[in-house]
Amino acid sequence: MTFDVTRARADTPGCEATLHLNNAGAALMPAAVLQAQIDHLRLEARIGGYEAADAAAPAIANTYDAVARLLGCAADEIALVDNATMAWDMAFHAFNFAPGDRILTAEAEYASNYIAYLKAAERHGVSVEVVPSEASGELSLSALESMIDGRVKLISVTQVPTNGGLVNPAEGIGRIARAAGIPFLLDACQSAGQIELDVERLGCDLLSATGRKYLRGPRGSGFLYVRKSILDKLDPPFLDLRSARWVARGGYEMRPDARRFENWEFNYAAVIGLGVAVDYALSWGLDAIEQRVAALGRNLRRRLADLPGLQVHDLGERRCGIVSFTSDRRGAQEIKRMLADQRINVSTSSIDSTRIDMERRHLEDLVRASVHYYNTEAELARFCEALAGL
Ligand SMILES: Cc1ncc(COP(=O)(O)O)c(C=O)c1O
Repeated sequence: MTFDVTRARADTPGCEATLHLNNAGAALMPAAVLQAQIDHLRLEARIGGYEAADAAAPAIANTYDAVARLLGCAADEIALVDNATMAWDMAFHAFNFAPGDRILTAEAEYASNYIAYLKAAERHGVSVEVVPSEASGELSLSALESMIDGRVKLISVTQVPTNGGLVNPAEGIGRIARAAGIPFLLDACQSAGQIELDVERLGCDLLSATGRKYLRGPRGSGFLYVRKSILDKLDPPFLDLRSARWVARGGYEMRPDARRFENWEFNYAAVIGLGVAVDYALSWGLDAIEQRVAALGRNLRRRLADLPGLQVHDLGERRCGIVSFTSDRRGAQEIKRMLADQRINVSTSSIDSTRIDMERRHLEDLVRASVHYYNTEAELARFCEALAGL
């Protein structure tokens, strides 16, 4: 099946002026996502913020429905929050950890998550254990299986790390977690929007993601999926008058759904924009997006491998659109700056974002070039030419 790149680019105003390979940072928004936000901000300015939210109730409800369609779950299993970190933290800190509990995670775990594990170790005396990887780089399912016992309180894994093209075997992890009856928290921050995410197939109980990356939504938007069957086993780390009702002087009642992980105030323009972005991604089809993005990633890795002095560092049998590399000649930051002078956007990833993985591979800093479906082969050729000239 061919992907209509011309249409994708026509829908993306930013494509014209910028060669954007920082989609794992924040992708370029489609015009419809931008417009929906502007329209709502204008409405707020004209009639008032609360009144605008009332008027936009159907669009706001649609965001829950759209995210639920994306994940194959019910809309009342979705909480909307400001970013993936907030989503993940609300889920993680809802476990009542006790001394001796074990948390199993992966080598390419994201720093913010790992810092929360370290804090939980300090505060509750939990043991944080990293499941070894296969030689090819993904979490080893057989190692995970061998580490399961009655003390494992949580399996918490990042599907696509911040620092490369690896796709961890989330479905396999979900199968092991389910068979053992252990909750599974999946950080899908870098995978949402570039990989099909069906929570039944993934077997996760909790999933966190952000709007601005591969979903092409607004900055400051994110969501948490909470499986209905786990909801009452979790203790939300804080409550307010949205997540709970103050029903008597001495009592409150939590909301009966995932929105007990939300709080009252929202940037509704971003909420609405997120819904439009998710619908837009679904209109292309996540399978088609994944194939296109993965093919562009392969194409870019092939081209980079031909450039003298560059080393590509992506791990895994299955790889996505994040391409990471180093150069013998220049540091990652310098490459980023020099490319920016040519209106080419990339980002960098340093050891303190994914310390365990980077230490193991003796890496300090990487350039991260992340492709999206609206990028073209011609852009990749131009990117490599620019790199060759640095
Ligand atoms: C794997 C992973 N998880 C979580 C996050 C945090 O996302 P956010 O900035 O939306 O909180 C990031 C951000 O880059 C990430 O790469």
